[in-house]
Amino acid sequence: MIDSMFDLSGRTALVTGASSGIGAHFAQVLASYGANVIVAARRMEPLSQLVQTIQASGGSAAAVAVDVTDSSNVKDMFDFAEEQFGVVDIVSNNAGVADAKLATGISVESWDVVINTNLKGAWLVAREAGTRMIEHTIPGSIVNTASILGLRVAISQASYATSKAGVIQLTKSLALEWSRYNIRVNALCPGYFITDINREYLTSEKGKAYIGRTPSRRTGELVELTAPFLLLASEAGSFINGVALPVDGAHSIGNM
Ligand SMILES: NC(=O)c1ccc[n+]([C@@H]2O[C@H](COP(=O)([O-])OP(=O)(O)OC[C@H]3O[C@@H](n4cnc5c(N)ncnc54)[C@H](OP(=O)(O)O)[C@@H]3O)[C@@H](O)[C@H]2O)c1
Repeated sequence: MIDSMFDLSGRTALVTGASSGIGAHFAQVLASYGANVIVAARRMEPLSQLVQTIQASGGSAAAVAVDVTDSSNVKDMFDFAEEQFGVVDIVSNNAGVADAKLATGISVESWDVVINTNLKGAWLVAREAGTRMIEHTIPGSIVNTASILGLRVAISQASYATSKAGVIQLTKSLALEWSRYNIRVNALCPGYFITDINREYLTSEKGKAYIGRTPSRRTGELVELTAPFLLLASEAGSFINGVALPVDGAHSIGNM
């Protein structure tokens, strides 16, 4: 009974930022639970490899290049998804970048890249997805990858933390407007998981020492995001709407 609530057979899922890390993991999770998955990012090569991996394990997927900061690119991505598998009814809004710098050292260009990718990009993708679901009277779920840095702050993360706090407010705003259409919009707030975005820092002596001072004293494993993500993406979470769920081994609670 409970298993069937996680079943995604026949659904069309789209994952941005699927060319590496958390997005590549989420795409495989969605495919393994039966969804037809569109994987999207700027780099086609890793996306094509991911499609092959998914297909080799019996799943269904197709790849499309997108820059989430470009609204016409985003529209084209949804057109492509519809041609391949039908109207998108699950979105993992996951593309993101970071540029760790003290506030005085953040250039205008760097600020724009971080805010435009993480916040404007998430809005463009969610807006397109929601508009199409409403037009076709199709219920759906949007899972935004925010961060514990959307809930708390850290030194050298002013642009990133601001963008992710924006993603959390965007999540709640859209949930409020779209709940009446049976569209749920939730955010996952991961703690630290080693991926391309942070590998250099987290594997350095400074990074390891920092992680050693967090409550769980370790980084998360991608598999630990699987069930929280599926809960929000699938019908198992049918009455969960507008939440920002930390998955962080108590990191965001912090110690006074
Ligand atoms: N790892 C963590 O500890 C952690 C913690 C909290 C939140 N997050 C969030 O999780 C999400 C995934 O990050 P990750 O850790 O998996 O890092 P990652 O491996 O660096 O993945 C980032 C993804 O975003 C894509 N991307 C970047 N800019 C893009 C753009 N303009 N258009 C389309 N795609 C773009 C990248 O693909 P291309 O370069 O091919 O475009 C890549 O697939 C991000 O939103 C990040 O902020 C990560």
